[in-house]
Amino acid sequence: MKQNFYGRSFLTLLDYTKEEIQELLSISAKLKAKKHAGLECLPLKGKNVVLLFEKDSTRTRCAFQVGANDLGMNVTYLGPTGSQMGKKESIKDTARVLGRMYDGIEYRGYKQETVEILAEYSGVPVWNGLTDKYHPTQILADFLTIIEKFGHLEGINFTYFGDARNNMGNSLMIGAAIMGMNFTACAPSDLWPNQELIDKCYELAQKSGAKLKFTEDVSEGAKGADVIYTDVWVSMGEPDSVWKERIEKLSPYQVNSDIMKKANETAIFMHCLPAFHNRETVIGEDIYKKFEMDALEVTEEVFESKKSVVFDEAENRLHTIKAVMYATLKEEK
Ligand code: CP
Ligand code: NVA
Repeated sequence: MKQNFYGRSFLTLLDYTKEEIQELLSISAKLKAKKHAGLECLPLKGKNVVLLFEKDSTRTRCAFQVGANDLGMNVTYLGPTGSQMGKKESIKDTARVLGRMYDGIEYRGYKQETVEILAEYSGVPVWNGLTDKYHPTQILADFLTIIEKFGHLEGINFTYFGDARNNMGNSLMIGAAIMGMNFTACAPSDLWPNQELIDKCYELAQKSGAKLKFTEDVSEGAKGADVIYTDVWVSMGEPDSVWKERIEKLSPYQVNSDIMKKANETAIFMHCLPAFHNRETVIGEDIYKKFEMDALEVTEEVFESKKSVVFDEAENRLHTIKAVMYATLKEEK
């Protein structure tokens, strides 16, 4: 490895340089090729990692579990109930206990501060599997997918439709600004990322050459886009009471075939998943009954179209998460 990752945590992309992110993506691609060729070795055999989940997950949990197994590691899963964390024992104390037993800790939950405390006090690498503020491992998977489709990130026109100040909007903007990808947030202005983060990203963009744009105009957002990205309108941890207002605000930003037609002919559709694109879920059906919408942030037509690469992204969660664990736990001799 050219960069030094050993012993480091992965809490936000803001802690990583362009070269480091490039190398993590290149390790991911190599691990993916090896797995597809059936050439797995167990470079981290004998190590132990713990997965802390205060929120639900399919992709992130499975990617950490399978990735750790592929690398030869043992895994403990601790869900929202069943451990002492936060209820009878502080995060700081939990960190010091887990750091004595495990080589690495994954955390998914609410506050970014929690993952920072775990990293500060555990003494082992901590990986952010999603907080209310950031979702950095998802960005690596998304970027690997874009590279697979277009060959590069620099100069790609990327537009994010929807709640642009959630963990995905924030992290995609940071990643784009670091890597030199042009990022447009297309959303009502009160759902743009906060100004402090935007300012930080303008600074990063100056160095990388990325262009950042914020618009409420759907046509302007879609025009010339290589990637159209969206995420749920209500994130985990937000109260059900925000659905009505969010649907009213974001309905014009639903990714449908009109939006895809306005984008470049070769444009792809991306979504971190899970997505509300039909009524085949409990929440999807409930929303239909209340608001008569049979899809929310993306229509079934776009989701199921040839332009949609959402399951490539989902697979790439595994290879990129595996790369992060490998890079931060493998001591170079
Ligand atoms: N994209 C993502 O993080 O999915 P999960 O919530 O299933 O982990
Ligand atoms: N913004 C979404 C992302 C899910 C992967 C959420 O936090 O629920």
